Amino acid sequence: MHKEVDNLKKFHFTREMMRGSVYRKYEKAINALWNPRELDYSKDVEDWATLPEHRRAALLGLTVRFFAGEQAVAENLIPMIQAAWALDRFDWLMYLSTFVMEECKHAEFFAQWHERVAGILEPEELAPYFLERAATVDPTGRFELREVVHEGIPRYARELTAAVDTEDRQKIERAFLRFLTLYNAHVEGVLTMPSYEIVVDTCTAWNALPALKQGYRRIMSDEGRHITFGTSAVRTLLDDHPEWDQLVHDVFDEFRGTIVGLVEYQKAVPELDLQKYQVGKVRHYRNRCREMGVTPDETLIEQILDPSIDYVVGVTAG
Ligand SMILES: [Fe+2]
Ligand SMILES: [Fe+2]
Repeated sequence: MHKEVDNLKKFHFTREMMRGSVYRKYEKAINALWNPRELDYSKDVEDWATLPEHRRAALLGLTVRFFAGEQAVAENLIPMIQAAWALDRFDWLMYLSTFVMEECKHAEFFAQWHERVAGILEPEELAPYFLERAATVDPTGRFELREVVHEGIPRYARELTAAVDTEDRQKIERAFLRFLTLYNAHVEGVLTMPSYEIVVDTCTAWNALPALKQGYRRIMSDEGRHITFGTSAVRTLLDDHPEWDQLVHDVFDEFRGTIVGLVEYQKAVPELDLQKYQVGKVRHYRNRCREMGVTPDETLIEQILDPSIDYVVGVTAG
């Protein structure tokens, strides 16, 4: 009898699990596979040859940061997989396998584009275009800028790994909720969606670089699944611990300055409508709160929309 119970634990598939929303997201991801090597880069190569130097530099300031960001988010998914395993969520693990592959593929897209179009790929060729966050500060001193992708996410990831090591379910759930909130709701779900749009709009305004635009479009549709996986996982965790909704607000609060500021690139391309992306951030923030089942922080919304707050922050990637 005992042996039989042990054997039951070896199988994770159930009809209910396969009907669940996370498992369905896994199916969608498998159906939506795309290959960066199959995009046609020839028109981008032509456009690059005639693109003025200042536009090349402005654009690389953005794409190089995305390139680094996609690699950082790929590396920091490992603790999420550990946590899904520790909580016996095989459906989450299955979905996360596509998530990791997609973040690696986003990084690969940037490798392909930089190598084929801009002719740069080695770290020493890319690094000069990476704008340091220290150069972008809020002149009013009201907000503190934090490096969310390259400092915040790895720190939260270490916190989650440490929680998994304790084997204490409550600690794992709490750290997981914080990690999902920062990674999926804040970074992917609010901060980077308008940044992706900025690149797409720039390509449209310049009537150039169709492969770059297409790659960003494909990435954005993958990101939609990443975000809603994270926010629905937060909602699931909050169902068990309704008192933890303050943790969600605390995470957004820690990186408030990053989300309130304008993305630096908006100022570099005069053709762009700055307010559009701030309004977009608010729309995304409200959607994420609705998906997580938490009440939006109206002060944060007012600050995002406040035209007097116009310092710039570096763009990132999800
Ligand atoms: Fe993502
Ligand atoms: Fe990504």
